[in-house]
Amino acid sequence: MRRFSADYLDDTRRGMWSPDDREALAPLDLAERSCVLDVGCGTGELSAVLAEETPEEARVVGLDRDPALLAAVPDPAHPVRADALSLPVADGSADLVVCQALLINLPDPLAAVEEFSRASSALVAAVEPDNAAVTVESTVDAEERLTARARERFVAGVPTDVTLGAAPDLFREAGLRDVETRRYDHVRTVEPPYDEATLEGAKRKATGSRLSEQRETLLAGGLSEAAFDALRGEWRAMGREVVEAMAAGTYRRRETVPFFVTVGRVPSSESDFSAPFSLE
Ligand SMILES: C[S@@+](CC[C@H](N)C(=O)[O-])C[C@H]1O[C@@H](n2cnc3c(N)ncnc32)[C@H](O)[C@@H]1O
Repeated sequence: MRRFSADYLDDTRRGMWSPDDREALAPLDLAERSCVLDVGCGTGELSAVLAEETPEEARVVGLDRDPALLAAVPDPAHPVRADALSLPVADGSADLVVCQALLINLPDPLAAVEEFSRASSALVAAVEPDNAAVTVESTVDAEERLTARARERFVAGVPTDVTLGAAPDLFREAGLRDVETRRYDHVRTVEPPYDEATLEGAKRKATGSRLSEQRETLLAGGLSEAAFDALRGEWRAMGREVVEAMAAGTYRRRETVPFFVTVGRVPSSESDFSAPFSLE
C-alpha cells in the first residue's frame, strides 16, 4: 500500500484547479450540489475547491483512511476516517461522490466506483492522472531523460494502474449512465524568482532521496540493483546541476500531468430518491 506525506501532496498539487481553470469540473454541476463526499481526500486539496464551488449551505466531507493526512486538512472541514470500499453513509445520501488520484492507488478501482454509486443519489466522479503520459521540459538536459526513465520503471513496478486516466469503461461497468470525460492538464512550472519550497525541492533532488524512496518499486519495474545505483548517481548529479542553475537564475522547468475527469449518473437519480445525509 502506497503512503503519501502531506508535504508530497502539498508539493504535487500546487497550482492545481486555480480559480480561472476549472472548466473540466463543469460536469460535476457543483453549483447544484447539496452534499459532496471527497473520498481519499488526503490533505483536502480537492475538498477546498469543492467547498468554493458548491452553494454556501452545501456540505462537503473529506474521507481518507490515513489519519496523519486528515490531521493536515484545514479547519473548519471535518474530515472522516474511512475506507473507500466501505463508506460510513447510508445508500444515496450524498448527491456527488468524487475522488482525486485515488483509483490509481487501489487494487480494485471498480469496487470503489460501485461503492460510490451506492452512496450517491445523483453523480459519481473521479479525477485521475495518466502517469505514463507526464511530460517534463527542463533547461537541464539530463532531467527530461532521467525523469522519463524513472517514470517508465515506476509505472511498470507499481502494483496498481497508475496510468488509469479517463475511466469511462469502469464507470459503465459499475452501472453508471451518461458517462463523460474531460481532460485537465496540471502544468507546474519552475522559473525565477524561485520560492523557498522550490529551492528546498531542488536540494532534495540533489540527495536522490525521493528516488531512494521508490527503490523497491523501480526494482520491481525491471531495474537491476546496479542500474538503480547508476540511475541514482546520475540523478544526484542532475540535481546538483539544477541547484547550480538556480543559483545562477537560469533554471526553468515545465511539467505537465494529464488528469481526466470522469463523471456518471447513478440510475436511481432518474427518480426523486435522496436519503437524508448522516455519517454512520
Ligand atoms: C495520491 S493521494 C490523493 C489525495 C487527494 N485526493 C489529492 O488529490 O490531493 C491518495 C489518497 O488516497 C488515500 N487512500 C488510499 N487508499 C484508500 C482507501 N482504501 N480508502 C480511503 N483512502 C484511501 C490515501 O491515504 C491518500 O490520501
